[in-house]
Amino acid sequence: MSLPTHRRSRSHDEPFDLVQAIADHTLDAFLVTKAEPVAGPGGPEIVYANPAFTRMTGYELEEIIGKTPRILQTEQTDPAELRRIRNALENWEPVRSTLLNQTKNGELFWVELDIVPVGDETGWYHYWISVQRDVTQRVAAEQQLLQQDKLRALGEMAGGMAHEINNALQPLLGTIGLIAERLQSVDPKLARHAETLERDCLHARRIVRDVLAFARSESPNTGFFVVGELLAEVSDFVARVMPSSVTIRRHGFPAEGDDGIAGRRIRVSRDGLIQVIQNLVSNAADAMGGRGTVEIALDADPQDPDAVRIAVTDDGPGMDETTRTNLFNPFYSTKPVGEGTGMGLSVAHGLVTSWGGRIDLDTRPGAGTTVAVVLPAAE
Ligand SMILES: Nc1ncnc2c1ncn2[C@@H]1O[C@H](COP(=O)(O)OP(=O)(O)OP(=O)(O)O)[C@@H](O)[C@H]1O
Ligand SMILES: [Mg+2]
Repeated sequence: MSLPTHRRSRSHDEPFDLVQAIADHTLDAFLVTKAEPVAGPGGPEIVYANPAFTRMTGYELEEIIGKTPRILQTEQTDPAELRRIRNALENWEPVRSTLLNQTKNGELFWVELDIVPVGDETGWYHYWISVQRDVTQRVAAEQQLLQQDKLRALGEMAGGMAHEINNALQPLLGTIGLIAERLQSVDPKLARHAETLERDCLHARRIVRDVLAFARSESPNTGFFVVGELLAEVSDFVARVMPSSVTIRRHGFPAEGDDGIAGRRIRVSRDGLIQVIQNLVSNAADAMGGRGTVEIALDADPQDPDAVRIAVTDDGPGMDETTRTNLFNPFYSTKPVGEGTGMGLSVAHGLVTSWGGRIDLDTRPGAGTTVAVVLPAAE
């Protein structure tokens, strides 16, 4: 087999190293290590890396020679996957993997890599060569799809269940109400028990309705509203149902400011927006131990000046990483059993998404929380 030459005009006394040229110019990263040791704390020594490797990881050739590829691993790199790679290497088998790595600056990236042993004519393996490609964007897209699928499946399941439970609760509620009423004159003590039962059933129905709202893609009574006016109405309603220990401060509406934001129209359902803002304000109040000031502010969205941003802010303890990533999952709650069902934000997320909007989060442990509903303004 004859290999193609790079340039036709090249003279024969000036040998062209095709393999070197490939290594220099390919977009994939090449990394060559000594064959051993694969196990143990040190790991095999790096003997070569190409320019694409430097572009991907930030490590220059000089600083990486003699080190081990393990410097690319992070605490978050999947240990099971690393074990699988090590097992393959110990058996001199080629292996393909997708791993979370970090650059010299500590930036995380996903890499897809093939590692194959390279032997000499005696059949003795001297090196591992690995070809690597940054697949961060692909992995992010896959994870997002997975998350969407998961939410959709959960929504369908929860919606089906909620519907059944709702059907069972309706006659139960009617009958208990009747029993409580009749017992009033016969046995007042027993009547109180019946009332407690009724309250419990009402509580269960509220949860079931939340789940149904989450499962429905579009809420009823959707229409166009002037955002400043609607928000004034919604915040009055929410203020009425919150305990008196919670103060609600309004900013940017019904008509303040001359930026015209409050006069924009949004397409939402009134009941839905009440539900969303009520959930956000309840969360804010809960975060502050049930007392304090919650601000509801209306603004333009800094990323999209045509969108409106309704931000609910508290100066509570903020959220840690785990809470931030699980926030919108149905039934995720850090509250004690009986206090939170974990449906509040998943309902809010479902409704806001159905209106073409999104929910932004700004929070850090110890620094309070802003949860913002960003909605497109209608023409
Ligand atoms: N403003 C906030 N500050 C701190 N943590 C918050 C805030 N809002 C939400 N969280 C966290 O997010 C979790 C999920 O909130 P979500 O509203 O979905 O459920 P919940 O409030 O626990 O229960 P539910 O709203 O169904 O009664 C909460 O348990 C809490 O840990
Ligand atoms: Mg909540």
